[in-house]
Amino acid sequence: MQNFTFHNPTKILFGEGQIAALDAHVPRDARVLITSGGGSITRNGVLAQVEAALGNRTHFIFSGIEPNPTYETLMQAVALAREERIDFLLAVGGGSVIDGTKFIAAALKFEGEPWDILAKQAPVTDAMPFGSVLTLPATGSEMNSGSVISHRAKGDKLPFMSDATFPVFSVLDPTTTYSLPPRQIANGVVDAFVHVMEQYMTYPINANVQDRFAEGLLTTLIEVGPRALAEPHNYEVRANLMWTATLALNGLIGAGVPADWATHMLGHEITALHGLDHAQTLAVVLPAMLTVRRTQKHGKLLQYAERVWNITEGTEEERVTAAITATRDFFERMTVPTRLRDYQIGSDSIDTLIAKLQEHGMTALGERADVTPEVSRKVYELAV
Ligand code: NZQ
Ligand code: ZN
Repeated sequence: MQNFTFHNPTKILFGEGQIAALDAHVPRDARVLITSGGGSITRNGVLAQVEAALGNRTHFIFSGIEPNPTYETLMQAVALAREERIDFLLAVGGGSVIDGTKFIAAALKFEGEPWDILAKQAPVTDAMPFGSVLTLPATGSEMNSGSVISHRAKGDKLPFMSDATFPVFSVLDPTTTYSLPPRQIANGVVDAFVHVMEQYMTYPINANVQDRFAEGLLTTLIEVGPRALAEPHNYEVRANLMWTATLALNGLIGAGVPADWATHMLGHEITALHGLDHAQTLAVVLPAMLTVRRTQKHGKLLQYAERVWNITEGTEEERVTAAITATRDFFERMTVPTRLRDYQIGSDSIDTLIAKLQEHGMTALGERADVTPEVSRKVYELAV
C-alpha cells in the first residue's frame, strides 16, 4: 500500500426529511445564494423545502447552471454573489450544480482570471464556504473537492481540485431522486461504477480493504442499478444507490492505491466536442480502454472477473475477456449505449479528440502514465 493522507471534512446529513436540518447547519446570519440548474428543483418541490428550512435568512437564487457547467454561466453567479454580498453558497441539484458552485466559491476568492484555475491549474487556497443538497446520485461531488468546468467558447472541459472546495455539509435525501428521468438514473449508476473502476482497476498493491470496499460498491451498483430503473419509488434502492455513489468518489477507496482516470479524461474530450452526457462517454470509453490495456491490467482484471462477476471458468485470457464483456453488458442493461456510433459519432472525430488531449497536456495518462496519444487513439478507434 502507498503512503497517504486522508481527510474528508464534509458532514453528511443522510435520509428522508434531512433537508430540514439545513436550519441547523447554515449559519444563522448568513446571506445565502442558492445555486441551481434548469428548474428540476422547482418542479419536484425540493426548492420549496430548502426555502422553508432557511426560514428568514436572507437568500437569493441563481438558476440556470447547465449540465457540464460553463465558465460563462458561472461568472454571472460570481457577479451576483459580489453584488449581493453573499457569504454562503448552497448548491441544490446534481453534480453540475455542485461542481459549478465549487468554481463560484473559488472564483469569489481568487485574484486574477478565474479560468486560470482550470487552464493553468492555478492553486486555489481559499473559497467561500458552501453546502449542498444533492438530487442526483452520480458524481460524488457532494463529498469531494473536485469540479469539472467547461469553457463554451474554447471547447474545453477541465477539472480542478482544492482542499478549500469540499462542501461544509451535504444533504442526501433519497426521496429527492424520485423525480429523476431514467436517463439520469442510468447515467448516475454508470458514473459511480466507473469512479470505482478508475481507482480499483490498476495493478495489485496489497491494499486489501480498499479492494474489498471497491468490490462491494461495484456489486451493490450491479444489484441496485437495474432496480433503480425498474422501481423508481423504492426508498431502500434509492438510498443504497445514493450512498454508494457518494462512497465511490469521496477519497476513501482511493487512499493508498494507484489511480487511472484515463477513461474520464478521454470522455471529457468527447463531451466537449460532441455534448454527450458525462456517463455516456464513460460507457463508451471504459470497455475499449480495458481491452486496449488488458495486458497492463491483467492481474486486477482477473480479480475483478472472479470477485465481481463470479467468472471462474476458462483460461486467464478468456476470463479477462468475459469480465470486459460483462462490464459492457451491464452498461447496456442500464440502457446506456457503449459505442460511439450509437451516438452518431464516427472515426472522423478522432483526430480532433487526440489534438484536444494533446492541447490539454493529457499525453501520459493512467496509473503508469503510459497512456500516450497513440494509446488513446487506439481506444477511440476501438470505441467507434
Ligand atoms: O438542471 P436541472 O433542471 O436541475 O436538471 C438536471 C439536469 O438536466 C437533472 N436533474 C438533477 N436532479 C434531478 C434532475 N431532474 C429531475 N429530478 C431530479 N432530482 O439531471 C440533469 C443532469 O444533471 P447533472 O448535474 O449534469 O448530472 P450529474 O450529476 O451526472 O453531473 C454531471 C457533471 O459532473 C461532472 C461531469 O463531468 C458533469 O459535468 N463530474 C464531476 C465529478 C466530481 N466533482 O467529482 C466527477 C465526475 O467524474 C464528473 O466528471
Ligand atoms: Zn465521472
